[in-house]
Amino acid sequence: MKTTISQVSKHVGEEVTIGAWLANKRSSGKIAFLQLRDGTGFMQGIVVKADIGEEKFQEAKALTQESSLYVTGTIVEDTRSPLGFEMQVSDFEIIHEAVDYPITPKEHGTEFLMDHRHLWLRSKRQHAVMKVRNEIIRATYEFFNDNGYVKVDPPILTGSSAEGTTELFHTKYFDEDAYLSQSGQLYMEAAAMAFGKVFSFGPTFRAEKSKTRRHLIEFWMIEPEMAFMDHEESLEVQEQYVSHVVQSVLQNCKIELDALGRDTKALENIKAPFPRISYDDAIQLVKEKGFDDIEWGEDFGAPHETAIAEAFDKPVFITNYPAEIKAFYMKPDPNRPEVVLCADLIAPEGYGEIIGGSQRIDDLELMKQRYEEHDLTGDAYKWYLQLREYGSVPHSGFGLGLERTVAWISGVEHVRETIPFPRLLNRLYP
Ligand code: 4AD
Ligand code: MG
Repeated sequence: MKTTISQVSKHVGEEVTIGAWLANKRSSGKIAFLQLRDGTGFMQGIVVKADIGEEKFQEAKALTQESSLYVTGTIVEDTRSPLGFEMQVSDFEIIHEAVDYPITPKEHGTEFLMDHRHLWLRSKRQHAVMKVRNEIIRATYEFFNDNGYVKVDPPILTGSSAEGTTELFHTKYFDEDAYLSQSGQLYMEAAAMAFGKVFSFGPTFRAEKSKTRRHLIEFWMIEPEMAFMDHEESLEVQEQYVSHVVQSVLQNCKIELDALGRDTKALENIKAPFPRISYDDAIQLVKEKGFDDIEWGEDFGAPHETAIAEAFDKPVFITNYPAEIKAFYMKPDPNRPEVVLCADLIAPEGYGEIIGGSQRIDDLELMKQRYEEHDLTGDAYKWYLQLREYGSVPHSGFGLGLERTVAWISGVEHVRETIPFPRLLNRLYP
C-alpha cells in the first residue's frame, strides 16, 4: 500500500511503500540507516543485511544523496525520533539516481545556499520554516473566516501609491504609467464599504534599498479592513489574530519547531491582551535605555524597536505616532491632532515591526486637505476620495507582514529564509 511519511502512524505493523528522496545515510557492515524525506516529513529507514540480502544491501550502501526511490517496509514505533516512527526496509527501487548533489551535509556559506535555493528548500530546516509559513497562512484564513470576514483580492498593478512614492516599482501599462502594489489597503477600504469586514493576502513590492534582516523587496501581506470599527477595536482584532496564529503553530507544528530548535516557552505566553505603550512613553523608554539623542518626532530604528520590545514579554503596540512620520490616510487623534490613531506591533526577541495599522480619515474635507499637503493631484486617487463622499463611516485596518511573522515564530534570524524564493536587493535568482 502506498502512503506518505505524515500518515505512517496509521500503519504501524503494516508493510507500506513510500515515494521518497534520500536526504542522508550512514552505514556499518551489517546495517544501513537511510534518512528519507518525501515532502510530508522526514523518517529513518533501516536496512539490515541479514534481512534484505547481500546484493540489495550493497545497493543501499551505494545510494547517493537526493536520489529518488520507492521504499517498501514495515512501520515500527521509535520513541527516540521526532516523528515517533521508522521503517524496517524490506525492499527499495531507485527511480532516479542523483549524482553529486551540491548541498552536502557539511557547512555551506549563505550565498552558496541562496544560489541553490531551488534545492536548499529540500533541507530539513528550510522545510520546517516553510511548513510554519503554511500553518500561519492556514490559521489566518481560519481566523478571518470564523470571524465573518470576506476575502477580497486587491490588484497588483496599480495607478497610484499607497505608502509614499519613494519605494515604488515603476512599469509601463501599455501607454500609461503603472506601479507594483506596495499595499492593497486603499482598495481594501473600498471593499470594506461593500462587505463590512474584509481581508486580503497577497504579494507587495517595495523598491527599498534596505539590506537588513527584516527587509524583502517582494513580501506577502495580510491586510484586514473593518467598517464601523475604531482604532481600539482594531487593536483587539490584531491581538486576537496574532495569538491565534501563534497558538496554531504551537499546536500543529511541533515537529517543525523541534527541528528548528525553537524555544517554545516564549511562544506559549503569546496570548491576548498585548501591552500598549504610547509613542511619547516609548521615546522616554528609549532615552532611558541609553539612546539619548532621539527626539520627539523621529521614527524608531531597529535598535530602538528592539530596546522597546525587551521591556515586554509579549508583542507590544506602540500607539499614536506623530502624524508627520506616518501615512497621509491616518486619522488624527481628535484630542491631539499632532498624533494619529495608529499602532505598530513590535514582535519580541528583536524581530521588529510585524504589523502597521490605523484608523483611517473618514472626513471628506480633511482628506481633501491631506491630498493637497501630499500633492495627490492625479486622477489615480479620485476614487479613494469618493469613499468619503458616499456614506463615509469610521473604519480601521492593518497589515501584517508574513515573512517577519514567520521569522519570529520560527526563530530564524533573517527573512530571506522565510519565503520560498526571496527577492533581495542583490538577488533575483533563482
Ligand atoms: O507598515 P506598512 O508599510 O503598512 C502598510 O503597508 C499599511 N498600508 C497596512 C495596512 O494598514 N493595511 O507595512 C505593514 C507590514 C509591516 O509591519 C511589516 O511587517 C511588513 O508589512 N513589511 C515588510 N516586510 C518585509 N520586507 C519589507 N520591506 C517590508 N515592509 C513592510
Ligand atoms: Mg510600518
